[in-house]
Amino acid sequence: MHDSNHSPIVLPNEEATAAFALRLAHAIRPGLVIYLRGDLGAGKTTLVRALLLALGYKGRVKSPTYTLVESYDVRGLHLRHFDLYRFRDADEWEEAGFRDEFDAHNICLVEWPEQAAGLLPEADLSLTFEILQDGREIFLHAYTEAGTKCLNAL
Ligand SMILES: Nc1ncnc2c1ncn2[C@@H]1O[C@H](COP(=O)(O)OP(=O)(O)OP(=O)(O)O)[C@@H](O)[C@H]1O
Ligand SMILES: [Mg+2]
Repeated sequence: MHDSNHSPIVLPNEEATAAFALRLAHAIRPGLVIYLRGDLGAGKTTLVRALLLALGYKGRVKSPTYTLVESYDVRGLHLRHFDLYRFRDADEWEEAGFRDEFDAHNICLVEWPEQAAGLLPEADLSLTFEILQDGREIFLHAYTEAGTKCLNAL
């Protein structure tokens, strides 16, 4: 059984999100499935952008709101950034090849995972964003050994 928490992290501003993203960049490993939870505007995409920047990605990082997934290959890592807010059609899961993206090589970061409940593989890790009066707070939870290792490496 692996089920562990990290103490919550307060991110008073976007610079703090960038600093946390740098820590996360060192801790992530191929095969991880990371759910990003939290309301609209809670800062999920901001973290993914900061993570890619921390890994040295130079291109534009679009929110995958309409495409549902954007792919990035950087520093030997294969990041897959999903935003399932608009995901409706369960058939699309197979047809679009989403299932195949969850393999041992890819690191999948998934916004709005609840929209594909039952289809989406279980998370190794979840980051839940809360909006504070100033900034954001994230609650980190690991569900697997791989997720626990990532949290311990932060
Ligand atoms: N740590 C932070 N402190 C203050 N503002 C932040 C922080 N992180 C992100 N923001 C701001 O929150 C806003 C929304 O962020 P973002 O688009 O990342 O949200 P999201 O969770 O991806 O939303 P959605 O569910 O709509 O995709 C942005 O304007 C961003 O500048
Ligand atoms: Mg987003």
